[in-house]
Amino acid sequence: MNATPPLSSAEIKKCPEQLEKFVLDLVSQMTLDEKIGQMTQLNGESLVLDSCLREQLRTGKIGSIINQVDLNVLNELQRIVVEESRLGIPLLVGRDVIHGFNTIHPIPLGQAATWNPGLVTELASFAALEAASNGINWTFSPMVDICRDPRWGRIAESFGEDPYLTSTLGAAMISGYQSHDMSNLGSIAACAKHFVGYGAVESGRDYATTNIPENELRNIYLTPFHASVKANVASIMTSFSDLNGVPATANPFILRQVLRDEWQFSGLVVSDWDSVRQLEIHGLTANAKESACEAVSAGIDMEMVGDAYSKNLASLVHNGVVDEILIDKAVANILRIKAKLGLFNNAKTDPKVLPSIAIDEHLQLAKEAAIQSVVLLQNNHETLPLAVETLNRVALLGPLANAPHEQLGTWIFDGKVSLAQTPLQAFSAEFGERLYFHPVLKTSRSKDLTALTEVIKELADCDLIVVCIGEESILSGEAHSRADIGLPGAQTQLLEALRKLGKPVVCVVMAGRPLTLTSEIALVDALLYAWHPGVMAGPAIADLLVGRAVPSGKLPVTFVRHVGQIPLYYNQKNTGKPPSDEEIVLIDDIEERAPQTSLGMTAFHLDEGFRPLFPFGFGLSYTRFHYSELIIENPNLEVNESLRVSVKLSNTGSSAGVEVVQCYIRDHVGSVTRPVRELKGFQRVSLAAGESRIVSFIISPDQLAFYGRDQRYKSEPGSFTLWVGGDSNASLNGNFILC
Ligand code: NOJ
Repeated sequence: MNATPPLSSAEIKKCPEQLEKFVLDLVSQMTLDEKIGQMTQLNGESLVLDSCLREQLRTGKIGSIINQVDLNVLNELQRIVVEESRLGIPLLVGRDVIHGFNTIHPIPLGQAATWNPGLVTELASFAALEAASNGINWTFSPMVDICRDPRWGRIAESFGEDPYLTSTLGAAMISGYQSHDMSNLGSIAACAKHFVGYGAVESGRDYATTNIPENELRNIYLTPFHASVKANVASIMTSFSDLNGVPATANPFILRQVLRDEWQFSGLVVSDWDSVRQLEIHGLTANAKESACEAVSAGIDMEMVGDAYSKNLASLVHNGVVDEILIDKAVANILRIKAKLGLFNNAKTDPKVLPSIAIDEHLQLAKEAAIQSVVLLQNNHETLPLAVETLNRVALLGPLANAPHEQLGTWIFDGKVSLAQTPLQAFSAEFGERLYFHPVLKTSRSKDLTALTEVIKELADCDLIVVCIGEESILSGEAHSRADIGLPGAQTQLLEALRKLGKPVVCVVMAGRPLTLTSEIALVDALLYAWHPGVMAGPAIADLLVGRAVPSGKLPVTFVRHVGQIPLYYNQKNTGKPPSDEEIVLIDDIEERAPQTSLGMTAFHLDEGFRPLFPFGFGLSYTRFHYSELIIENPNLEVNESLRVSVKLSNTGSSAGVEVVQCYIRDHVGSVTRPVRELKGFQRVSLAAGESRIVSFIISPDQLAFYGRDQRYKSEPGSFTLWVGGDSNASLNGNFILC
């Protein structure tokens, strides 16, 4: 039984030293085997609660379990460790709750397109509630990897390419999962992952190598993790990938120097699944014993699932290779979280005290999130919103128009597909008898267009075609990278055939990544990019199409014209030869035998130029917004002074709408070269038709700083330009000087 009296969360809050004392006292009572047990995680997927497992639990051989979601089993496991083990230490119960538990929300990339941290917090807190009612107390989310490569399948789980947006939304998600006190009913521990650089895997191939210079690592990839630490994230997971020659799971520079020494992180560091043993496969170590030694020395507190720790740590300590002090510190990091979660007071879950899943309030929130995540990329001739009364017959086509599973996206282990409401369901309610539906293609990958001939006959008396295409769920996510990120299957041919009919075509794309749609955009009148919107995709898309809701999503990632442009991101460096539109001569315009220097000698591709299809931050509305009267109140800024900026935003269209006002800066000269633009602030502003409002930004001195040539975080005096507008190409600008 527990040798130390339980600690209430109120006591921890009042006196953090008491938490430390509790943790250290407990560590001092533990045997080496019990300590290693805390550092060990059991894979609960096909768990059998037999006498062998009971004995392991009783003797303190297991500190955490992953992937077991039977509440009765979990409660029994917690009962055994608490009541029958010597020290009564409860289990951390981990699960990938990535964008909802039973009620699936938009994928994280879709949530990022809302640019709405408050909403992201609410979604995470609902997900936590559902997971907690199922006995889960630890999620492996948020993923705050910066991703500049849409071939990487895990871009779906990310918040996109920008460190500031990712930092803001990561912190928002953490506060939703953990609330202000992790011991609150319905709160769970978060885990920022994958530390660090995983999004930079070569050619977007999952698990591949990463090489990131220290300055880039600090200014881009580490930034959202630092923000997560500042947001009190309970845990951090290392990346599978090799970082500059030392796999992240054994990398003391990131784990000891940056995370622990510089940032003073006191939470738990967990490896990724079996990534300790994989150090051997990387070629860093010769066997599992060396892997355990490298990982624990670098600072991995808990090994996810593998057995390198359980089999080797004891002998490493006994032989004097690993100092037991290292083990004590790791165990303290684990126990601290368990105490903060309140598990020492109550490890079991009583489902009756938590609300049941899919309550209406939750579904409405999921719908609102889906609405806000959709980005309107094109709306020629104001095709949208639809003039519903004038339409006699509407066609709904495409493989994703009625595919409940495919609208949910990746990582939906516990998602209830039965909750999914498809576009077909919503459109049937909207148009009744006036609706004609056919998927034409069985799946998004299908190349079989035989149904098209029949369908085209039916389309004769339709006034308008809505086509739902994109990528099935399985085409993005972990280990689902693509080399060609165009529309799969025969979907482009389907659009070509529909275009020939001369009827308005509205295209809804559901996908886990920004696809290349350069030729497709010319085949449709309007295009809504919906990512994978979750259970409420249907009602959300219907509301947007008929104008009950107005699109407000903005791209959290650049859309390239061609896969060969990757990586293409808005916050690139200027280079010594930056491209400009005037200097570009494309491949078909080059004269035969032209001299080598006939073209603009700048950084562009002969076949695609240098511009993306759609820039970061882009998204249209049914109304129009105008920016004017940019005022930089204090253009001669002292080092410790915040910059104060205001702009007038006017809704000059005829309907109400929400604009995401974005503020970018450029630091013109630095001890290291600086990006051409960097996002420093954003606000969602709701305006009635004809309304104007002054929108203000305060940019703190800290936000003007960066890691310079000496890898220190500080600001450097000099001149800056600032832009405010509706995307990363905003033109309204002013200058200021940091003195
Ligand atoms: C591997 C993934 O990389 C990680 O993101 C996930 O949380 C773990 N497996 C646990 O499922």
